[in-house]
Amino acid sequence: MSDTDTHVDTALPAPSCVMVIFGAAGDLTKRKLFPALYYLSVANRLPERFAVLGVSREALSSEQYRELMNTESRVHLDGDYSAEVWDRLVQCCHYLQGDFRDPEAYEALAKKLSELDDQCQTGGNYLFYMATPPAFFGDIAEQIVNAGLAHEDEGHWRRLVIEKPFGHDLQSARALNRKLLDMFNERQLYRIDHYLGKETVQNFLAFRFANGVIEPIWNRRYIDHVQITVAEPLGVENRASYYEGAGALRDMIPNHLLAVLAMIAMEPPISFDADEIRDEQARVLRAIQPLTPEDVLTHTVRGQYTSGVMADGMQVPAYRQEAGVAADSQTETFVAMSLMIDSWRWAGVPFYLRTGKRMPGRFTEIVVQYKHAPNTAFKHSIMKNKHVEPNVMVLRIQPSEGISLGINAKVPGQVMQLSPVEMNFSYDDYFGDEPSTGYETLIYDCMKGDPTLFKRADIIETAWQLVEPILDVWTALPPRDFPNYAAGQWGPSAADELLQRDGRAWRICTDA
Ligand SMILES: NC(=O)c1ccc[n+]([C@@H]2O[C@H](COP(=O)([O-])OP(=O)(O)OC[C@H]3O[C@@H](n4cnc5c(N)ncnc54)[C@H](OP(=O)(O)O)[C@@H]3O)[C@@H](O)[C@H]2O)c1
Repeated sequence: MSDTDTHVDTALPAPSCVMVIFGAAGDLTKRKLFPALYYLSVANRLPERFAVLGVSREALSSEQYRELMNTESRVHLDGDYSAEVWDRLVQCCHYLQGDFRDPEAYEALAKKLSELDDQCQTGGNYLFYMATPPAFFGDIAEQIVNAGLAHEDEGHWRRLVIEKPFGHDLQSARALNRKLLDMFNERQLYRIDHYLGKETVQNFLAFRFANGVIEPIWNRRYIDHVQITVAEPLGVENRASYYEGAGALRDMIPNHLLAVLAMIAMEPPISFDADEIRDEQARVLRAIQPLTPEDVLTHTVRGQYTSGVMADGMQVPAYRQEAGVAADSQTETFVAMSLMIDSWRWAGVPFYLRTGKRMPGRFTEIVVQYKHAPNTAFKHSIMKNKHVEPNVMVLRIQPSEGISLGINAKVPGQVMQLSPVEMNFSYDDYFGDEPSTGYETLIYDCMKGDPTLFKRADIIETAWQLVEPILDVWTALPPRDFPNYAAGQWGPSAADELLQRDGRAWRICTDA
């Protein structure tokens, strides 16, 4: 059923601004940022007076840069294509060649921005987007300040979007926060986690807090445990140089998985004000029990894939055979763990997290498993496993967005036979399938000055604090069994044992 008439969209175009993209010729800009700007333009959300200024070291004129976007970014658009909208967007683009380390580049930037303000009437509002290698984040911020471009006067704003990864560990994340906060106000800083731009993740808030039936049963009294899975079939692709130094733990846990956990586990905010929501998220992250070194050994699992056959029959090489990966690499491509939250709502309810590369499919889902109903009335019924199956709520983010609830039903016939069935809600059925990169809402929110979906300094640091003991133990005790899972499998057997020990099992991910 399609029911798009029932949702009224009242959002207006964002306020006038120039979006400065550092790293304008890079992968993120071509694959995500430009397509996101295009989708925003289709939705009439881009400012009426708007310009993009790309900064990178490649020697290009503005005209050549527009051509580059025409050939290398347009191919990433999905859905119906409007040449008129695309051309209008590309015509707003300008380019400045410069090295991020060169102070003269920022003098040229200041001059160019002033020209664009005159030419495009953008009112002195600048959104600086750092689509650059993370090593440049602090230095670019400093150069922006030195060039006098960070100062906000009455009537205009200056904002900084910082890509992930934000730091490499707790110490570096703290150092970067300190550096940024010495120069900028927290409200000028937008630390991005594109997971929070996904519709379904935002919908967790609506699902939990706009439905009277959900919150009363969202606690330890009814819920047995929660699983969060982020699985991807891809290998390391062309990111080996980054991934070798990061690994699955750093790459996914302190940002995406803990962001999702916080949405699922947070207390109801008193309003949808940015800081009310972020206060609750920070609080629940602080309530996660820190892992002792012994806990790290028993509650975490790491893995690295060897060669194998993927679901589509493709034979793929081992991680250690990928270009740019050391032949004896100790980098993990899979991680699983169980965490406990010390709060009245969640005491005693394990949260199991897993994420990995070369998994059987592209799945991101949250499984909320309820406690078993008593068997009393069904002792003599025909049931799988001899007990009533627990209800399972699945919140799917990828590949298809939706929510399902597993319930028990009677199989038609003369005997009381129970069978698990599913009630399924799919986003596409109700709201249609709008193409999106996940960056649209985030860019739009930043232009409007709404930081709700961005990470505050304390949230980033609390997340790293949780990961730090794992990094310490794993560094001190290098893995002895790598590689320990075949590409195309759900990680090493130890990940299954992590749940089996508690009498539980990972849910088999499906596309519905
Ligand atoms: N790509 C993604 O899908 C993705 C997803 C999530 C987060 N991110 C984050 O987004 C950021 C950018 O990633 P990316 O994949 O787009 O990286 P990338 O493809 O390497 O792009 C970086 C850009 O910065 C330019 N650059 C590097 N050093 C420079 C310097 N000294 N002066 C001027 N320009 C310089 C590069 O120019 P050259 O081409 O000449 O080197 C390139 O245009 C990273 O922090 C990454 O972690 C990326």
